[in-house]
Formats: sequence, C-alpha cells, structure tokens
Amino acid sequence: MSVRAIILAAGKGTRMKCDLPKVLHTVAGRPIVHWVVDTARAAGADDITVVVGHGADAVVATLPDGVRVVVQEPQSGTGHAVRVALAAMGDVSSDTILVIPGDSPLFRPETLRALVDAHHDRGGACALLTAVMPDPTGYGRVVRDESDVVAIVEERAADEATRLIDEVAVSTYAFAGSALGDALARVGTDNPHGEEYLTDVIGLFAAAGPVVAHTTDDHRETLGVNSHDQLADAEWVMRDRINRRLMADGVWMQDPTTTYVDATVRLAPGVRLYAGTHLEGDTVIAGGAVVGPQVFAVDSTIAAGARVWFSVLRSATVGEQVDVGPFASLRPGTVLMAGAKAGSFVEIKSSTVGPGSKVPHLSYIGDTTIGSDSNIGAGSITCNYDGYRKHHTTIGDRVRIGSDTMLVAPVTIGDDGWTGAGSVISRDVPAGSLGVERSQQREVPGYADRRARLAASEEE
Ligand code: UD1
Ligand code: CA
Repeated sequence: MSVRAIILAAGKGTRMKCDLPKVLHTVAGRPIVHWVVDTARAAGADDITVVVGHGADAVVATLPDGVRVVVQEPQSGTGHAVRVALAAMGDVSSDTILVIPGDSPLFRPETLRALVDAHHDRGGACALLTAVMPDPTGYGRVVRDESDVVAIVEERAADEATRLIDEVAVSTYAFAGSALGDALARVGTDNPHGEEYLTDVIGLFAAAGPVVAHTTDDHRETLGVNSHDQLADAEWVMRDRINRRLMADGVWMQDPTTTYVDATVRLAPGVRLYAGTHLEGDTVIAGGAVVGPQVFAVDSTIAAGARVWFSVLRSATVGEQVDVGPFASLRPGTVLMAGAKAGSFVEIKSSTVGPGSKVPHLSYIGDTTIGSDSNIGAGSITCNYDGYRKHHTTIGDRVRIGSDTMLVAPVTIGDDGWTGAGSVISRDVPAGSLGVERSQQREVPGYADRRARLAASEEE
C-alpha cells in the first residue's frame, strides 16, 4: 500500500495582508511549502500533489521538482481542494492519502509517520492528527463523545462550550483512498464561508465508524502560518530547532537566541558563533572559524581559522586564517586568500586579495587583483569608475601602497612597487619602483604670529 500526499497550498492567506502567496513566505530561509514537501517525502510519501490557486504561477515557479501540481480555481475550501487533487491522481483505491496543510512548516516526519501507522494499525476510513493547544483560538475543535471523535467544529461555527475545547484539528489526516472520494462528494457548503470544509468529512466518517485520533506530544510543530505573528512564531521554533541540531553537531554558540542560521547554511563541527550572527543562503563555514559578534553573511564561504566580526559579507570568500573586521563590508566577488586581512571600515567588491596581503584600515577596493604579501595603506581607494565604465586595478606581490593613495584605474603597480602617501596614481608603476605624485611642501615661517596680528588689528 503506498502513501500519497496532498499538500493544500491554494488559499489566499488573507490575514497576511500582502501580495506574496502565504506558502512562499520563508521560514529559516526556505519557502514554507518547501518545508512541507520535504516533510511529506521524509514521512514516506512516494507521490506528492500540491494544490495551488492563489498566486499559482509564483508558487509553481518555486516548487521543488518531482511534485504533481493541481490548480484549484476558485478556492472553494479545503474539502474542495482535496477533491480537485484526487481528480488528478488517478486510482487511489488501494492507497493511503496523507493530507497536509501547505502553510505549516514545522511538522516532523516522525509525527506524520506515526499518524499513518495509527491509521494502518486501526483500519477504518481515517486517522486525524490533533494537538492540545494552550490557546486554541482559530483552530477547528475536536469534539469527542466519551473518547470517540464525533466531529471537528470550526471556530466560527463553535458555541461557547465548544470553543473551550483545547484539542484541535491541524488539517492533517491519513485517509483510506477507497473512502475519501465518496465522503467528499457528500460535504456541503452550509457554513459561514460557503466553502467545502475538509473537516466535515470527519463528522461523516465518525457517524459510520470510529475515527482514529493521533495526538502529537509537541503542539508547536502544528503551528500554521496565517498571519505575520504566526510567521514569526514559526521562525522562532525552526531557528531553535536548527540551533539545537547545530550545537549537538559540535557548533559553539555564545547566544542561540540571537543566532540566526538558515536551513540552507552548512557549518562544520568546531565553528564558533558569537551573539548576533546572521547566516543566510548558501553560506558555508569550516571548523575553527570564529564568527561574530554581529556578522551578517549571505552566500559566503569562511575557511578554517578565519576571524570575522562586526561585518557584512555578501557572496564573499574568506580564506584560512583571514581577519575580517570590525566594520568591514565584503561585497559580491570578494576573495580573501589565506592569511589576508580586511580591517576596519574597509569595503571590497569584485576583488581578490592575495595570500598574506592586508587592507587594514579605511579603504575601498573594487575590481582589483592584489598579489601576495602586499599592504594597502590606510585610506587608500581604487578609483574604479569613471562615470561610464568600471576599470581594473592590478597590484603585484610585496607592494606597499602608501596611505591615502588614489589608484585611478585602469592602473598596474608592479611587484615590489611602492606609492607615496597621498598620491593620485594614474599611470602604471613598474616593478620595484616608487610612484609618487604630490606637490612640493613649502613652509611659511612666522605664520602663527601673522594670524595673531591680523586678529588684533580687526578687534580695534
Ligand atoms: C484549517 C482547518 C482547521 C484547522 C486549521 C489549522 C478547515 C475548514 N479548517 O483552518 O480545522 O484547525 O486549518 O490547520 O479545513 N486551502 C486550499 N484551498 C482552499 C482553502 C484553503 O488549498 O480553498 C489551503 C490553504 O492554502 C492552507 C490550508 O488549505 O494551506 C488551510 O487553509 P486555511 O485557510 O489556512 O484554513 P484555517 O482557517 O487555518
Ligand atoms: Ca491555516
């Protein structure tokens, strides 16, 4: 018997009050619906149908490969959504149908497996997942007679007593494929929204025979995202889960409550993260790197032994034993090779800083190649843009760029070359030479006395 999943992702998400389809909001850096598809797969579903509707094009464009997409138009309720999905799934009479809401990113695969097992063990038409909520507001309540499930009553249709029930349905069910279609055909639209509620199927099944309820021991995993505050709650739970897994795998965190690691990030054992670290996208950090406090890194690589603090890294590559910060901005295309440094108030983009070369203070380096063991004096700038095009600067090995040098690109400083402090270098400096461009200094003796006399005469 195979398990086939239906993921409900067609709803409008009215309560989010924004155009982005609800299931495309991200939790720990991944769209909510991706989490749900992954969980369905991990729970053993070998065929997955995603029901889309509101913002269908955008949702389809971001769905992972290998899922069947069905468009529900109009979106006439969760029961209707399942009906539309079944119509595209062919013969399901010998399958188990796992229905999961596309707006709930936190389900653990083991919970869904336990639900399917409970369904298989007990036979019957259906097993539903329930949770006991500290605050059940907004959820469908599970109404029981003695211990048997009788019905699910939606919040809007619930009377005072029913609203006090803290056991809720979480839109997650395992159905016998042979029974589901007929039951859905009998669901009406007599409710405040005039929709076909999937929850009504439970009442129909319960009238015919026992409905199995499997209650999760962790209500947090059932959290559905209907509004921004629930999105923030889901983010919090997921982040906590990710951080605990990372710590179990040998990552040190000074303060997990201020450490934000996307699900897509890879950290080796032995990484050390200080408070206020944000790691996003395709970021990879090797063991022995120390990151934070206060670092934002997206799509960046940090190698072993590197030290990065109070800095922003975007698509940057930081080599072994490299020093970054405090207050460095590494923009896309920055490569710092082993032992290099990008120090305080330094901005680098589309540039390679060779092994052991240092840009310690107050510099802008753009479209530049720096060789090995060179030093860029404080306040130096590559003037890479002439107002029309970007130009390249090439700095060789063992070069000493004097403080406050303007390197007007395109320009090349040869190996072992020097520039004098304060120079505007607009011609190439050959290997081993000093390029200096500044006017002669002159001294004006007695200048202070002259000023004092002038001031005194004006007072008279
Ligand atoms: C639903 C359940 C409720 C449960 C709650 C939390 C119903 C009638 N109510 O309420 O019992 O406690 O989830 O899990 O089922 N969707 C479609 N097509 C539609 C309508 C919705 O695909 O026509 C999708 C939505 O995108 C969403 C899911 O179904 O992913 C649930 O819909 P939503 O509107 O969030 O239902 P709730 O009000 O949360
Ligand atoms: Ca919901």
